Amino acid sequence: MCEFDHLSQRERELALLAAITQRETFMIEISHVDKWYGPGFQALKDCTTSVAKGEVVVVCGPSGSGKSTLIKCVNALEPFQSGEIILDGIKVNDPKTDLPKLRARVGMVFQHFELFPHLKIIENLCLAQEKVLGRSHDEAVAKSAKLLDRVGLKDHARKYPAELSGGQQQRVAIARALAMDPIAMLFDEPTSALDPEMISEVLDVMVDLAREGMTMMVVTHEMGFASKVAHRVIFMDQGEIVEDALKTDLGF
Ligand SMILES: Nc1ncnc2c1ncn2[C@@H]1O[C@H](COP(=O)(O)OP(=O)(O)OP(=O)(O)O)[C@@H](O)[C@H]1O
Ligand SMILES: [Mg+2]
Repeated sequence: MCEFDHLSQRERELALLAAITQRETFMIEISHVDKWYGPGFQALKDCTTSVAKGEVVVVCGPSGSGKSTLIKCVNALEPFQSGEIILDGIKVNDPKTDLPKLRARVGMVFQHFELFPHLKIIENLCLAQEKVLGRSHDEAVAKSAKLLDRVGLKDHARKYPAELSGGQQQRVAIARALAMDPIAMLFDEPTSALDPEMISEVLDVMVDLAREGMTMMVVTHEMGFASKVAHRVIFMDQGEIVEDALKTDLGF
């Protein structure tokens, strides 16, 4: 999953930090993006930022400031009218870009887990692997089982989503996204619909992912997460990126 896999944990963290600090390889480049919903309302105003490979960026700001809109533009769930977004070298807003293929490469985790209620957990994990990536059923099941183990849910594969707690369902949603071997993960308030006692079990999975070098853009109000693993924090207000700061500059 990561080019630093052969290194020890500490060496890996240092190598990752060096790569991010140099910011040589950008995974997500957002340049001067404007987005209107209908003719009258501008939800994003000249937004420019970038996320380096392996970097973890937290996006925060008041309700309605455009956080969800921004990350939905990154994997083309929302179209935008001007500017440019480049994802791993591919221009998102190029009519020639194969959007379903591009979206399959970016993991997205929402506030409401959006699992298929009529499918068992293992089936939820296998579906896109088989239909989109063309993996064999056995291969998809093996990958899913490994990921369920990783998020601490290996004994729940045969249950239906309604039989799991909110925190467990969100961990399934993260495992489902990881099953696609994403190049980056986008999170939109993944813990805000959870009861307080379930927040940490989801954040722990996200912290592990960040430490393993996953490129992440995370809309969250969890400043504990930001202080632990974010490299940068972006603040949005009324559709604008009003601050884009290295965590160290924020005094975390
Ligand atoms: N589909 C839509 N059609 C019209 N307006 C929309 C749509 N989605 C969002 N908006 C508006 O765009 C603005 C930004 O919305 P967005 O959901 O990106 O904000 P947010 O920062 O994620 O807010 P929250 O913290 O409440 O999730 C808001 O004023 C919202 O009402
Ligand atoms: Mg939102």
